[in-house]
Amino acid sequence: SFLLRFWELLRGLLVMSKPDRVVLTMGTFDILHSGHIFLFEQCRKIAGPNGEVTVTANSDEFVKKYKGQYPAQNIDDRLAVLQSIKHIDYVETLTSQEDTESMINYVFDYPTADRFMVIGSDWAPPKDYPKQLGVDEGFFVRNGISLLYIPRTDEHSSTNIKNRVRNSV
Ligand code: CTP
Repeated sequence: SFLLRFWELLRGLLVMSKPDRVVLTMGTFDILHSGHIFLFEQCRKIAGPNGEVTVTANSDEFVKKYKGQYPAQNIDDRLAVLQSIKHIDYVETLTSQEDTESMINYVFDYPTADRFMVIGSDWAPPKDYPKQLGVDEGFFVRNGISLLYIPRTDEHSSTNIKNRVRNSV
């Protein structure tokens, strides 16, 4: 019947509008540099044409608690920079380690999509990335999330840039 066809068409459009791959990467992103851009580029490639790339930035208080110092740029400024990067579809603020698990579940809340968590190789084993995030060891496997480590260009880091600026003034 007409109604049935209409419903099938509508359902098809709804399925098509959902991402088939969801990619998430999390960090501080205080002074953005080409190492970060390379990471976002890889996220975009993994997501493919119908995928979605989300980046979370740690709130100022979270950074202070975890790194001992406030970031040079506050969260609104860091989000504004991330929002303008063409590889990124969505940005979110992560406010604490306790919120990490629910943030991950929120970002990956598409039952049919393939899920990828992407990070720099500085977090590869023997480093314990799940522990760093405050989730248990089986969390990623249980939730069907693939952890992908992207080779990191060592000399690029926000801390190095801050030190070079400090030494040059
Ligand atoms: N990252 C990367 N390549 C770099 C630097 C960072 O792939 N050259 C990745 C990290 O592995 C992480 C993400 O970018 O997945 C966010 O890292 P962040 O701590 O914000 O950047 P850093 O430059 O490492 O900052 P800091 O020097 O303050 O630690």
